[in-house]
Amino acid sequence: MSRFRIAPSILSANFAKLGEEITDVIASGADWIHFDVMDNHYVPNLTIGPLVCEAIRPLTQAVIDVHLMVKPVDRIIPDFAKAGANIITFHPEGSEHIDRSLSLIRESGCKAGLVFNPATPLAFMDHVMDKLDVVLLMSVNPGFGGQKFIPETLNKLKLARQKIDAHKAATGREILLEVDGGVKTDNIAEIARAGADTFVAGSAVFGAGRAEDAHRYDGIIAALRAELARVK
Ligand code: DX5
Ligand code: ZN
Repeated sequence: MSRFRIAPSILSANFAKLGEEITDVIASGADWIHFDVMDNHYVPNLTIGPLVCEAIRPLTQAVIDVHLMVKPVDRIIPDFAKAGANIITFHPEGSEHIDRSLSLIRESGCKAGLVFNPATPLAFMDHVMDKLDVVLLMSVNPGFGGQKFIPETLNKLKLARQKIDAHKAATGREILLEVDGGVKTDNIAEIARAGADTFVAGSAVFGAGRAEDAHRYDGIIAALRAELARVK
């Protein structure tokens, strides 16, 4: 597997043709499906839940990366595990007991991750590193697709990379470092150089589809990968 993963966010897909969008984006070379769950409480928007995850699960073998922007998180975690999620991430602000929520995800058979808003300190990961499979840094404030990348995220990525590398040196465990928000062809290389290995891209991918074609996203996925290939 390449050292980088591209995870299109279906938030920017055509929901009237969601199944086709998912099979097409994977056929075009995407690695994961990023699945944004918003509750109109933790974030000011409302999207999709476990029923939709269950409906798309038979369409692809690709990893379904469920990003929970909900509060509270615990009640809904087992539902997403049953619906076929592979990874479940949540925001520390959405849980009263972060360690417990991470354990709940892992006991449900999924990989677990914490999501950090632009102003949320990385310290939330320090005492739960052994329960993390993914660290996701938001490079926009959560709630909407199509926002502009916040440049301070680059400094934060470097700090997160140091923590993750130190954990790997001490334990041998891998933790993925994912970034979400405003990722485009013109900044993905710089974001990778700051330490990210997994890239969510919503509007960049789904906004670049060609006319009806089972591979209509291969141009944009190839362009993102070409940028990543320039990263040493
Ligand atoms: C924002 C979501 C993102 C969003 C990214 O709250 O978590 O996954 O879909 O969209 P773009 O890539 O358009 O910024
Ligand atoms: Zn997301």
